[in-house]
Amino acid sequence: MTHEPLVDGHGRLITDLRVSVTDLCNLRCHYCMVPDTVEWLPRDEILRHEEIVELVQVFVGLGVREIRLTGGEPLVRKGFVGLAGRIAGIPGIDDLSVTTNGVLLERDGPALIAAGIRRVNVSLDALSPERFAQVTGRDRLAQVLRGLEVLRDTPGRGRIKVNAVGLRGVTEPELPAFVALARAQPYQVRFIENMPLGANRSWTRDDVLTGEEIRGLIHAIAPLQPVEREAHATARVYRFADGRGEVGFINPVSEPFCDDCNRIRLTADGRLRTCLFSLHETDLRGPLRAGAGRDELAAIIRDAVWRKELKHRVGDPGFRQPARTMSRIGG
Ligand code: 5AD
Ligand code: SF4
Repeated sequence: MTHEPLVDGHGRLITDLRVSVTDLCNLRCHYCMVPDTVEWLPRDEILRHEEIVELVQVFVGLGVREIRLTGGEPLVRKGFVGLAGRIAGIPGIDDLSVTTNGVLLERDGPALIAAGIRRVNVSLDALSPERFAQVTGRDRLAQVLRGLEVLRDTPGRGRIKVNAVGLRGVTEPELPAFVALARAQPYQVRFIENMPLGANRSWTRDDVLTGEEIRGLIHAIAPLQPVEREAHATARVYRFADGRGEVGFINPVSEPFCDDCNRIRLTADGRLRTCLFSLHETDLRGPLRAGAGRDELAAIIRDAVWRKELKHRVGDPGFRQPARTMSRIGG
């Protein structure tokens, strides 16, 4: 195996891999899915555990150091905790994390920490049961909140982040509750601008509730001070002026951070995506199942990464939304 770093044609070093382990989900967030129209991937197209482990080993051999496990909802995948443990055992990974909607955290949180997951991001768009159900199509808020508490109280856990997609008309009235959560709990609450990755394809630039708008509204509730930005961080972080709690803003639409992007993605069906908005993807499952060895897979990956997109074109005239929606890409 070669030991040259994994770089793209724009000089960016790639060290972060998001691995989607399933396209299935136990929620139906309206900006992601259109209920009853979702077509799930056929079983035999989904990478098996050992295939995921094999590919992750190849990526780590190429210099990937950070792995985030995503879905759909990763915790609905059978044997997910065991899979996470196998990935945690791969030498060379510095940071292994999970993004989950939290519905199954009460059941799996402690086992995930025991398996070697340090950091968990919980997607949670509303803190009132009504608006939670309105966004997700399911009445599961209490379960998610219990899951967060279980995680919070698990020894060995790392930093917990709560991620809310900014949704005009939904997020604004929720802000006092999010501020209270961020100040009372050891969670970093982050707001993500809504991106055109949903099945309904009704996204418009003007609908986007920007991070700046949300920050202004929060500042009026409790004053904020900026925290210095970390390299490759997607979030701009602010702490409350009295030192109690912090919030972050991920603004991919209004302030793209493509310049220092170090991320690539592996889909549950074994495709490499070099951008959330890629219109082209690279099949790794085919070669893997045809018996390709590590060097051969590494060469395919290097080649695809070299052609990583310079930046996304969200909001530009002529922007084309990828065929894959978020639940099939993996956050
Ligand atoms: N825009 C922004 N974030 C999204 N997510 C899902 N769809 C979108 C979208 N269209 C988020 C989820 C979760 C993460 C995996 O991606 O809410 O936080
Ligand atoms: Fe499931 Fe995440 Fe899509 Fe919501 S946004 S439906 S939690 S995959």
